[in-house]
Amino acid sequence: EKGNYRHFMQKEIFEQPIVVAQTLTSYIRQIDRTVALPQLDFDLSGVKRITIVACGTSYYAGMVAKYWFEHFAHVPVDVDVASEFRYRDPVLEPGGLALFVSQSGETADTLAALRHCRAAGQVIAVVVNVPTSSMAREADLVLPTHAGPEIGVASTKAFTCQLAVLAALAARLARVKGRLDADGEADIVRHLLEAPACLTAALDSDEAIASVAQLIAPARDVLYMGRGPDYPLALEGALKLKEISYIHAEGYASGEMKHGPIALVDDQVPIVVIAPSGPLFDKTISNMHEMQARGGRIILVSDAQGIAEAGEGCVATLAMPRVHPLIAPLVYAVPVQLLAYHTACIKGTDVDQPRNLAKSVTVE
Ligand code: M6R
Repeated sequence: EKGNYRHFMQKEIFEQPIVVAQTLTSYIRQIDRTVALPQLDFDLSGVKRITIVACGTSYYAGMVAKYWFEHFAHVPVDVDVASEFRYRDPVLEPGGLALFVSQSGETADTLAALRHCRAAGQVIAVVVNVPTSSMAREADLVLPTHAGPEIGVASTKAFTCQLAVLAALAARLARVKGRLDADGEADIVRHLLEAPACLTAALDSDEAIASVAQLIAPARDVLYMGRGPDYPLALEGALKLKEISYIHAEGYASGEMKHGPIALVDDQVPIVVIAPSGPLFDKTISNMHEMQARGGRIILVSDAQGIAEAGEGCVATLAMPRVHPLIAPLVYAVPVQLLAYHTACIKGTDVDQPRNLAKSVTVE
């Protein structure tokens, strides 16, 4: 089943252009460049607040989506990890949409949070990869990802497909809220449809990423940093690395480094900086310079223009295609996944079945 691939994780990373395209096909009407959601039996335009709840990588997809819902639809969003959510007396008012993101649709904490929100009168929407799952059965609105079965314990293609669905939902919500006109919606659709080709271009850097993994593998600690919608990518990169290579890693919002974590920086700690060209580039790079001034060994992940501007003094650079900021979180998922993957291969760990972990966490 792995075909020519060494691991399921590797196969699933490389499937992303196809499965993201599949997912987009089911949410986009090419003919008029609009987003089409499954039949709704509630009024989407009446949604006043969104509560996103998920775990692990699915939680990071939810964090990215918060930027999109707020930016495009101007709807306030809370995002929580499921295991914390129920224990903090969340205020759930009428008109609230509770949105659960889960590859398996079975994660115990997320399912318990869903039931909590149901009891509190929220409309329940789920983004799930398993359409027959418990979460799908208990939802008012099921938004399937079409990633196909994900076997590797480390979630990869499910994440990028979740992002595709969430971006489509944000565009639709913005439209029904009157925050986006037909041209604006068509623009978003056009950028989303660019994602599969950009994912393919990102995958073309596989060999370059494998050689950068040589710099990561000997490290004891690795830091990741990013800003805005790419901040959750820093968290995701660190999670992937911890999970499959057992190297300690942390992700930080770039601007937060100077509030403490910068004390960790020395010439032993590789720092992966996720900095696509875009409105936040300059700020991220100035944070990167603060790390360099303390001897930090920077691995800059950007596009050709970003690397031309800021690559000097980095120990390595990885060039991604130049992309619209909307799809950057999908495209930059590839280098963080492959960095973790190749590092784990160098370390000889069990990539598909890392120690102490299960694919579906069905205990609270
Ligand atoms: O099936 P789910 O998306 O609900 O799973 C959530 C997490 O357990 C999962 O994303 C986990 O963090 C992954 N192993 C990360 O790669």
